[in-house]
Amino acid sequence: MRSEVHAQSPAAINAINDVFHLYDPPLWLVTAHDGTRRGGLIATAATRASIVREIPRMLVAVAKHHHTWGLIEASGTFALHLIAADDIASVRRFGLASGHQVDKFADLPPRETPAGSPLIEGAMSWMDCRVEARMDIGDRTTYLAEVTAGAVLRRGPILTVAGLLRDAPAADRTELKRLYAHDQETDRAAILAWRRSRGDA
Ligand SMILES: Cc1cc2nc3c(=O)[nH]c(=O)nc-3n(C[C@H](O)[C@H](O)[C@H](O)COP(=O)(O)O)c2cc1C
Repeated sequence: MRSEVHAQSPAAINAINDVFHLYDPPLWLVTAHDGTRRGGLIATAATRASIVREIPRMLVAVAKHHHTWGLIEASGTFALHLIAADDIASVRRFGLASGHQVDKFADLPPRETPAGSPLIEGAMSWMDCRVEARMDIGDRTTYLAEVTAGAVLRRGPILTVAGLLRDAPAADRTELKRLYAHDQETDRAAILAWRRSRGDA
């Protein structure tokens, strides 16, 4: 039996988190729909999952308390966009607010990808994804998805976490920090409950 919170010293935790800071992930804008309901969020937990050119796949992890998660669960599809390096406005719209409270698409044109997910025309690129398999990991669902279509809309630098933290106005950085701390608490409880439910705690 492992202990619920693994016995790691603060120094060990710091050392582990130093590793995460060695790389700079891109920000993905994930959109999804369920009938007329539309939603979208920002995710860094997305990565290419196949090197086979004609079988493109992505892995994406979405927290279960997000509005967009319910839309992906309902439709089994979502779209992934990369956004421009200076597009802090999209982070504000999709990453700092929740579709549980606001309609993030109310003032956006009703554009769709071929699979019917909301298309963000100002993005650098888009890809349609169809869920092939899903894994409940407690706080999040990890989706393995087939990429069924996609295109580059414009060329140029894309937004990454380092770029966001460097260029976002102070008020946005403060809000990011607040939401991050809040989500960490929600996620910690969900991960520990998941481990307990598997007799793994
Ligand atoms: C830089 C950044 C990275 C994020 N990465 C993820 C992620 O990988 N997975 C996730 O579920 N949420 C992630 N989020 C949080 C969601 O984007 C955010 O909570 C969003 O407001 C949820 O919107 P929704 O409730 O409308 O779906 C991230 C947010 C930011 C700003």
